[in-house]
Amino acid sequence: MKDTSAPTGPATSHDELHAELSDSFDTTAMATETTLLNPRFYTTDFDEMDRIDVTPVRKDWDALLAQMKSDPNKGHFKKTADWDHVDWQGMEPRLRAEFIDFLVSSCTAEFSGCVLYKEMKRRGTNPDICELLSYMSRDEARHAGFINDALREAVVAVNLGFLTKAKKYTYFRPKFIYYATYLSEKIGYARYITIYRHLEAHPEHRFHPIFKWFKEWCNDEFSHGEAFALLMRTDPKLTNSFVNKLWIRFFLTAVYSTMWVRDHARPDFHAALGVDIDWYDQEVYRKTSAIARQVFPVEIDIDHPAWLPNLRRMDAAMRDMDAAKRAGGLGGRLRHALASARAALAFARLYLIPVRHTQPPVSVRLEPAY
Ligand SMILES: [Fe+2]
Ligand SMILES: [Fe+2]
Repeated sequence: MKDTSAPTGPATSHDELHAELSDSFDTTAMATETTLLNPRFYTTDFDEMDRIDVTPVRKDWDALLAQMKSDPNKGHFKKTADWDHVDWQGMEPRLRAEFIDFLVSSCTAEFSGCVLYKEMKRRGTNPDICELLSYMSRDEARHAGFINDALREAVVAVNLGFLTKAKKYTYFRPKFIYYATYLSEKIGYARYITIYRHLEAHPEHRFHPIFKWFKEWCNDEFSHGEAFALLMRTDPKLTNSFVNKLWIRFFLTAVYSTMWVRDHARPDFHAALGVDIDWYDQEVYRKTSAIARQVFPVEIDIDHPAWLPNLRRMDAAMRDMDAAKRAGGLGGRLRHALASARAALAFARLYLIPVRHTQPPVSVRLEPAY
């Protein structure tokens, strides 16, 4: 986990504040760092992906691609008169640090999608897949660019060109790309819409204008998720075989628990939004699970009595790992090993919570419903 400790000392002018922020936040280094919790960049077996045949889902596929081609959000990611003045100077230093961390992490995640989709398109020859990927990389480039514009206002934009070259890439087999990408797109949708709806009801907590853009934004993520749902539908084994069900369960547990730990590292950010983090995360899981029934035959029981206690254990263990790493030395290494074992045990307990079995419907396409 990153050190998000806040810069100290009041800034007396805009220029001084900008100098202080750009000294304190090396956002490109923050985005490049590879840790358990940071968004990663992925690479895969592009030839295998290129062999996908969408014939079994052709009708839904054509309808989805026609919608993406029409580019409903073409003009959306531009600052308008709605973009109020941002008072970076008046922001509490801890909130500012956590908010910048949130923006950098979101920008990295969006850009990670852009890089992966662009590379898949560049290596591919399958016209259906290439067309889809061109729309998806277009959208993610806009999303990452828009967040980076918000960071640029505080003079702490991420150097995305450098990131593409410097960031380590993690290899995932295509089926793992489907599970992980589908989930991250649908979770992205659920996160954006939950914050948007919350701030719609409590506009006094909207401390930055970017949140006003989340509604149309989340529809892009929803469509991206739909595309991956269709890809998984082309081969029923991907979601129905015994082993793959175990993998889906693993990805659900990993993605949900990572989100919990990441969000709980930003208490001031969520307090400023007026959001209880436990409530917010459970709400996002609930929405994501309801949507994921369209394609996944198993779902995590987030109301199980072991769910929240083990998420909290995992969070505490990961904070201890972080502290031990910073302490260094032999003592630090020992404490790190012990905390890692506790985190692994908490993860195993989460993984072993009995899942709910569901029957995905015959038709797969959904519309955003929240
Ligand atoms: Fe996105
Ligand atoms: Fe997306």
